[in-house]
Amino acid sequence: MKLFDVYPINNITIDKAKGSYVWDEKGNQFLDMYGGHAVISIGHSHPHYIKRLTDQLNKVGFYSNSVHIPMQEELAEKLGRVSGKNDYQLFLCNSGAEANENALKLASFHTGRKKVVAFKKAFHGRTSLAVAATDNPALIAPVNETANISFLPFNDEQALEDHFSKEGSDIAAVIIEGIQGVGGIKIAKNEFVQTIRRLCDLHGAVYIADEIQSGYGRTGKFFSHDFAGVKADIYTMAKGMGNGFPIGGILISPQIKPKHFLLGTTFGGNHLACAAALAVLEVIEKEELLQNTNEKGTYLQNALNEIKEISNVRGRGLMIGFDVPGEMKDLRKNLLSTQKIFTGEAKPNIIRLLPSLALSREEAEYFIHALKKEIASMVLKPVV
Ligand SMILES: Cc1ncc(COP(=O)(O)O)c(C=O)c1O
Repeated sequence: MKLFDVYPINNITIDKAKGSYVWDEKGNQFLDMYGGHAVISIGHSHPHYIKRLTDQLNKVGFYSNSVHIPMQEELAEKLGRVSGKNDYQLFLCNSGAEANENALKLASFHTGRKKVVAFKKAFHGRTSLAVAATDNPALIAPVNETANISFLPFNDEQALEDHFSKEGSDIAAVIIEGIQGVGGIKIAKNEFVQTIRRLCDLHGAVYIADEIQSGYGRTGKFFSHDFAGVKADIYTMAKGMGNGFPIGGILISPQIKPKHFLLGTTFGGNHLACAAALAVLEVIEKEELLQNTNEKGTYLQNALNEIKEISNVRGRGLMIGFDVPGEMKDLRKNLLSTQKIFTGEAKPNIIRLLPSLALSREEAEYFIHALKKEIASMVLKPVV
């Protein structure tokens, strides 16, 4: 049997990983400034994470949500404290798309309404509602097409006001990434998210903050929405939550009431997933990774701003993007093949940095040094 060929892959096999580094089977070392797509939060193969998961596996790996799983309560308590959202409720699932799917569905159950506001260039995942709220027609199958989702321009307060004044009483939810990831590291302005909050309150709509890429400390605050001092009604999380163990979740504000069978999943919140998520939060706290994210993010943005060949350096914490000129469109590819550094991309010609939140100063400096070296060699050898 062959694999269903949906991923354009780099011809590299990763055999070992530690901290901010990965190694291929030939022993080549790579600096991981991509974090396996913003997933590696506390660093690859963290000893505490390995121990917590190993100990848990030796006790019980899985049992269904038909029994009491005290670790889920422990996780809810810890997540509430670390995120500053103590009064919220936690529902656990398995991925980012599933988190958004449940958030949108819950908003619809709660309001009894069908309409959703999403934004241009948004990416919310690939399941039916999540993909319908994703602004990329290539990903939307005919069965996912719906007139219930409106895509408004990002950061345009007037367009939002106008839309709410027409359809406000039908809107179940507004869903927005605090920083658009796939859309190219675009920060939602504070005034914009404050306007969303005000309009949702005025019209009784649910505010969903998609913090799947921008959350879990990646921006230097637990949620990127915290910069605007705005509280969403639902926060969706995945990626960094399990440092590679598949887990997602939604934080639900107290005014949304649960009912048996309203949401559900077989695997969500299983013992191993909870152990992974608890290990991540324990390391985030113990190693003060939010502070590290702020420091290393500031260093990287300052250093990147001094490189004249690249432009529009932006982002928060360790979620950074910059534009690469068209004649250097191979920069990302060359960073991987020549400098042995993984980075992320967004179209067109944007490099995204999403490293582990435990990135060290030496690793950040090494990245800048290698980037300058690669740019210099490309300037000397212009593409014809
Ligand atoms: C902002 C955002 N939302 C949702 C998702 C979907 O997450 P998953 O791939 O875990 O389903 C992603 C994944 O890249 C994302 O970046």
